Amino acid sequence: MAQNPVERQNRATELICPFNLRPLLASWNLGHCSESHTPRNLAYARKVDAHLQGNVIEDALAHDITPAGLAQRVWNADGLEQFLGRGLSPQGVMTFMTFRVLSHSTKYMTPEDIAAVSADLTQGAPAPTPPEPRTGAIAQNADGHNLYLCLCAGCHVADGEGQLYGSVSMRSNTSAMFDNPLDLVGELMALVNYLRQRWGDHKQALPVEAVTHRAKEAQIGTDDENDNEGQ
Ligand code: HEC
Repeated sequence: MAQNPVERQNRATELICPFNLRPLLASWNLGHCSESHTPRNLAYARKVDAHLQGNVIEDALAHDITPAGLAQRVWNADGLEQFLGRGLSPQGVMTFMTFRVLSHSTKYMTPEDIAAVSADLTQGAPAPTPPEPRTGAIAQNADGHNLYLCLCAGCHVADGEGQLYGSVSMRSNTSAMFDNPLDLVGELMALVNYLRQRWGDHKQALPVEAVTHRAKEAQIGTDDENDNEGQ
């Protein structure tokens, strides 16, 4: 594989081990989440005015988990409970970096602890409504639409509704909602490398950084700026 497993493993342990300290959870102030989810300034100090507003670690996004940030991406306490407890929720799946949070830590929390953390993070905000799927995107991205139909729709269904016990719904999944596309790009890199190495005569896998360092720095407009075409 392209990544350096030793380095990543060390980092994962460092990020995750505090969750294992069961007695701490009673008075948990989410400090451990903030280790990953708070942006750093150039001196690598956490920015105090940006607490829990998201960060990039090893080319994965640690997302904004303030109540406002979560609500914007249609997370509610119930979804967070499912995500932290079993790694699967309508809004997202623990893959890549976050899977290790589940396997090393949150799966050892009691349901009561998970409910408390989820309620704390969302502060009881009501369930937000997912955005309406934009059918206009089909004409705007004909190639992408065809790739989706060929590669993905078998499981996620043509309109993205997903299938019970088979795949998640694209509509409530938050991967596509982030202004920064790092998560999606990272997942697609596995396919890119497979194609290049299997049939393109490339010996080495491209590191995800080869693509993501561009995406990280790109000025990604907000939906309002880009949304000229309507539905
Ligand atoms: C064989 C069935 C299958 C196919 C084909 C498939 N998926 Fe999935 N997908 C799943 C399942 C199951 C999950 C949830 C569990 C998991 O990640 O393992 C999932 C999860 C996802 C997620 C959510 C990840 C997250 O972080 O929350 C996205 C986004 C996604 N798929 C996109 C795609 C795209 C794009 C394609 C086509 C290139 C595709 N899938 C093809 C079964 C499939």
